Amino acid sequence: MSPRARRLALPLVALAISIVALGTATYLALFPRSGGSAVTVGGPFALTAPDGRTVTDATFRGKPFLVFFGFTHCPDVCPTKLFEISEIFRAMGDRGRDVRALFITVDPERDTPEVMKTYGASFDPRILGLTGDRAAIDKVVRDYRAYARKVPLKDGEYTMEHTALVYLMGSDGRFIGAFNVERPPAEAAQDLLRRL
Ligand code: NI
Repeated sequence: MSPRARRLALPLVALAISIVALGTATYLALFPRSGGSAVTVGGPFALTAPDGRTVTDATFRGKPFLVFFGFTHCPDVCPTKLFEISEIFRAMGDRGRDVRALFITVDPERDTPEVMKTYGASFDPRILGLTGDRAAIDKVVRDYRAYARKVPLKDGEYTMEHTALVYLMGSDGRFIGAFNVERPPAEAAQDLLRRL
């Protein structure tokens, strides 16, 4: 290797290593190996169900559950994801009667329990729209290492940018991984049923 090539090669190798390291750090932040990392995804929460009842993480222990962040004014991502989850739940049938998906709003100012109830009526009843006060929502977004940001619109209204990841939580309430809803519903349904 010529000296000139060596001068060029070294920074390139260093750059490649730092890109790999950055990718690994991001991956580990979201998908820590069980017990291997101090980073956790999820945790205790207390939120309000569409019927006004308070539900907590303990409410959903004993069965696997999905978690998805969004808001009812979402133009496309949220309704699409909720439709996909509904199809998967339908494919699970009665065997999956106790499996839940928690649709947690990142827009609690507009998404009251009543709004969540009306919105949720279009989807599988095992999808539960949860809201809460700003502090409770901020905490659950933070604990799930999710992302949500208010974006003003020209007409004085606003929209929300948010994480579109569907989280799969085990029956012990711990994060298992990202749940792929973009595969055939029967296949995704089997994935949930085998965790019962
Ligand atoms: Ni959305």
